[in-house]
Amino acid sequence: MKLWGGRFETGPSVVFEQFSGSLHFDKTLVFADVEGSQAFARALARQGILTDEECGKLVKAFAEIASEAQNPTYFEGAGDEDIHTFVIRKLQEKVGGLAAKIHTGRSRNEQVSLDVRLYLRTCAETVLEQLMELMGSLLDLAHKYPDAVVPGYTHLRRAQAVLWPHYLLAYFEMFARDCERVQQTLARINVLPLGSGALAGSGFPFDRSEIAADLHFPAITRNSMDVSGDRDFALDFLYSCSMILLHLSRLAEDWILYSSEEFQWMTLGDGVTSGSSLMPQKKNPDSLELIRGKSGRVFGDLTSLFVTMKGLPMTYNRDMQEDKEPLFDAFRQTSGSLAMAKVVADSVVLYTSKPAIAAEESWVVATDLAEELARSGVPFHRAHQIVGQLVLYSVNNGKKPSDWKGEALAAFAPEFKPEMARLLTPSEGMKSRELPGGTGPQAVAKALQEAGQRLRAMSEHVRPV
Ligand code: ARG
Repeated sequence: MKLWGGRFETGPSVVFEQFSGSLHFDKTLVFADVEGSQAFARALARQGILTDEECGKLVKAFAEIASEAQNPTYFEGAGDEDIHTFVIRKLQEKVGGLAAKIHTGRSRNEQVSLDVRLYLRTCAETVLEQLMELMGSLLDLAHKYPDAVVPGYTHLRRAQAVLWPHYLLAYFEMFARDCERVQQTLARINVLPLGSGALAGSGFPFDRSEIAADLHFPAITRNSMDVSGDRDFALDFLYSCSMILLHLSRLAEDWILYSSEEFQWMTLGDGVTSGSSLMPQKKNPDSLELIRGKSGRVFGDLTSLFVTMKGLPMTYNRDMQEDKEPLFDAFRQTSGSLAMAKVVADSVVLYTSKPAIAAEESWVVATDLAEELARSGVPFHRAHQIVGQLVLYSVNNGKKPSDWKGEALAAFAPEFKPEMARLLTPSEGMKSRELPGGTGPQAVAKALQEAGQRLRAMSEHVRPV
């Protein structure tokens, strides 16, 4: 069946029908389409366009469609233009001519906006929960090794020593911002478009607030043309997914490195690694590589819809049908990657001595020493110069920081005092970084505790009781 046709002398060509049909992907929206249509039937009843009995029949038939659609074979062989047409055909099969009334005062342009909003609302809630689960796993991993000292890097060169929980909390903060972003996105998704008609507003005086309450939308859209033309909420969702994948890709890259033979800081569980078909010794971090790979794909989804929307004239254009596949893909990949990252995090074993030795053998203590000189009154630039010379001398003479004892240090430059040698141990310098946000042991313990509280507060706020 078609939802149009009166104006045409011939039907669409086979090529056009196949080219333009979207049912093979927008069938994903079937449950949203049914839910929105049930609410719309109730709105039509309130308008007196449907009797209560007719409305009841339609709502029941829609419910049957939703339950039949659980079966994946439900769509086999269907040649309908899109999910909206498919659902109405199914409705017609169930209630006959009554089905012809359901589209009174409604356009597919607003219906597709409604369906995508209903669908994305569930996706956003799922992503939010998965983000919080991953954040919980990162906190567990931090609590397993609360005192582990690791080198922090800039330019992938050892820079300054930090605590392992401090490193993990950096990712916790990224994912906490991602949660905020998803919640903000959810607020923009959660606005009822119904009542907008094709572009000019419905010709029937629906009480839009009532429909909004029926579908649990806290707000209604303010401009019908904006509804037909707008996909900002979809782009916001794609951007939120992209940012999550960006963060995940960096975590993945870190752990690919840290679990390599070159670093040997950690192992990943057997359950998240794969072997080689040829090289028997291999244990490859494919789970993390795939997360890193999926990030490119999700950025592509965002770029794809960005480019599709650019320069489109007001209001609806069929180009916009191309929004769905990137959205569905981005959700699937983001959700899959978050689930994977959590399982990987739960499998990590840290060999604390490896990063500790890496910190001790390198000059991650140099800044601590220079700052101690500055605290003793040496101007910082001079202090920097002296410690730089100490490093140069040590590198040229094969000396590690721990090879320097107090007296030898004091003999190297008059500004050094023997007791400053204690700072040549990486875990010592950290103690001067106790300000909020720093890697001082007390600051980190507090941040870790607060992170747990914040996560608990977030999950209570998000999860419906
Ligand atoms: N399948 C279309 C889409 O996803 C439905 C919207 C209305 N179609 C139309 N030709 N006005 O965008």
